Amino acid sequence: MPAPPYSCTIVPLGPAAPAHHFQRVAQLHETELQAGFLAKFGVAFLADFYRYVARDSGCILLVALEGDKVIGFVSGTDDIGKFYHRFILRRGLKLAVRLVSYLLSGRSLSPLVSIRRYLTSRNTTHLPVSELTSLAVDPATQRKGVGKALFAALQEHFRSHGIEAFQVTAAKTQLAALHFYPARGAKLVAKTQLGSLESSVFVCPTARAMRQIAGDVPPGLRGSCP
Ligand SMILES: CC(C)(COP(=O)(O)OP(=O)(O)OC[C@H]1O[C@@H](n2cnc3c(N)ncnc32)[C@H](O)[C@@H]1OP(=O)(O)O)[C@@H](O)C(=O)NCCC(=O)NCCS
Repeated sequence: MPAPPYSCTIVPLGPAAPAHHFQRVAQLHETELQAGFLAKFGVAFLADFYRYVARDSGCILLVALEGDKVIGFVSGTDDIGKFYHRFILRRGLKLAVRLVSYLLSGRSLSPLVSIRRYLTSRNTTHLPVSELTSLAVDPATQRKGVGKALFAALQEHFRSHGIEAFQVTAAKTQLAALHFYPARGAKLVAKTQLGSLESSVFVCPTARAMRQIAGDVPPGLRGSCP
């Protein structure tokens, strides 16, 4: 029997949104995006990180809300290099404090290696500078169309800002993502490392993918969960 349609709305999260929304985004990041280095810095750091993202004019943070509860989110930036440059200028001290306390707690140097690899792997000129930076859905509501709706809303945001294509990276442990992006029209363009994990870099074309999604999702539901 087909799953019943899942009811939620997709909205942008601005910097003045309630603290519990950023807290929930941070929790989802920490539990669902463990392949990346930011997840290692804890929920408090991540909540502050996403409030920064919500404030940054070159970024977008969209959440799926079920009532007042965040059940998924996606973030993106129009230029990943410029975003990290701004972030390090404005929040570099906080990041350094988190890194030092992480290292002093006797854990591995892997976040440092990951950050270096992540930033140097961006020195490629053939990839779009726009990037889907995070996408996660609450495990209790996965496979119900929430991820597709978030992805479509981010595509629409990029498209409306004149962006034709964006990149996204998925580690080999993120099996759902490795199916999810190609099914949305993304093309595998490179392999890289996320920490110690082999990862795939995809390019997602907004215009073509929008047409593909227009075939999947009734027009009235685009941008909100079916
Ligand atoms: C990837 C993710 C965001 C998808 O969200 P979702 O709400 O479950 O996805 P949807 O229900 O909208 O879309 C389902 C589609 O995704 C793919 N997919 C999702 N989970 C899958 C799985 N476990 N195995 C294979 N394909 C999967 C399929 O293409 C599926 O389409 P189908 O149902 O028609 O077969 C979600 O699985 C998640 O949060 N994963 C953990 C975090 C993560 O890996 N994020 C991506 C980082 S790059």
